[in-house]
Formats: sequence, structure tokens, C-alpha cells
Amino acid sequence: MELLKERIRKDGVIKEGNVLKVDSFLNHQMDIALINEMGKEFRRLFPDKSINKILTIEASGIGIACITAQYFNCPVVFAKKTQSINIDGEVYSTQIKSFTHDVIVKKAFLSPEDNILIIDDFLANGCALLGLIDIVKHAGAKIAGAGIVIEKGCQCGGELVRSQGIRVESLAIIDSMD
Ligand code: G4P
Repeated sequence: MELLKERIRKDGVIKEGNVLKVDSFLNHQMDIALINEMGKEFRRLFPDKSINKILTIEASGIGIACITAQYFNCPVVFAKKTQSINIDGEVYSTQIKSFTHDVIVKKAFLSPEDNILIIDDFLANGCALLGLIDIVKHAGAKIAGAGIVIEKGCQCGGELVRSQGIRVESLAIIDSMD
């Protein structure tokens, strides 16, 4: 997505440890007009009418998923990183290597009838995405694919997920930080 690539070139900041900071427009301050264009692009990339739910993970995925969901006319479910006392009933739970706690989704919000599009801001080592895929599989739901805003092509996540036969569409792929 050219608009996003231009914005990364203009406002992205490379930090030590191969970290790309995009917090001025994506995951702290959010440029809603730009994210709206991302939502349209995800719809174009995943035209499948049977997609009926978007799954993401807190925190940064939520805003992007919500704007995208307006183009799919479907609800958003987000995996929670902390066990909340407000969650009643059974949950799907999975471990994500980079987090200290399991992430959870209430069982009532995913079902075998669902065709799910996963949305997230970054794909790096793929830990978060693999965790979400694990949850969808436990629910017996179908995975339409994963829509990622920025994929770090220099890390192994994209390859790991695609090798499972899951369609991953990234709006920008960063192959090197030079
Ligand atoms: P993963 O997202 O593919 O699982 O990768 P990894 O485990 O390596 O990343 C852990 C966290 O670091 C994730 O955020 C991920 O989005 C973020 N991250 C990885 N690489 C970059 C980068 O180059 N730039 C930025 N800005 N973030 C990166 P998280 O813990 O889920 O955070 P949040 O969603 O609560 O913000």
C-alpha cells in the first residue's frame, strides 16, 4: 500500500534492535484517515463475503481492527492479555512466547461457524499471530487469512505462518532497516 509505505519512509523511526517506531501514526497516536484506507485495502485483499468476524489482540490491533471491521460489517473480538474478573464463562487460552501471561478469548465469542480474518499491526517473530491462529483452531472456526499492517520480512514470522498454509497479506513489508 503505497500511502502507508510513504508514511513509513516519512515518519518511521528506526531504533536499536531493529525496531521500527511508528507511534506517531499507527500504534500510539493514530492517523484515522490512513487507517481507514488500510481498512479499505484489507477488504479489497479479502473480498470473501463469508468473513463474519475479525480477531485481533490488545492493544494496538484493536483500533485498526475496528476501523477495518466497518468494511466487513462484522464484529471484532480481541484476545485479552490479562485475565479479567469480568470474564465469566469458559475461555480459549494460549501461550504467546513474548508475553508473560496466556492470552484469552471467551469461548462464547468464537464458534465453528465463524470464518475469521485476523488483523494485527506488526508481524515480526509471529508469536502473537501464531497464538491467535491456535485459538481459532481450538474454536473449530475457519481462518480466512491474516491482514497485517507492517511485516518485518527480515524476521521469521511471515514464513512460519505462510508455511501453515495460511494466507497472510501485509500492507508493507520491511526487508531491511538500512
Ligand atoms: P509478533 O508481533 O510477530 O509476535 O512479534 P514479537 O513477538 O517479536 O513482538 C512482540 C511485540 O513487539 C508485539 O507488540 C509486536 O507488535 C511488537 N513489535 C515487534 N517488532 C516491532 C517493531 O519493529 N516496531 C514496533 N513498534 N513494534 C514491534 P505487542 O506486545 O503485542 O504490543 P501492543 O500490541 O500491546 O502494542
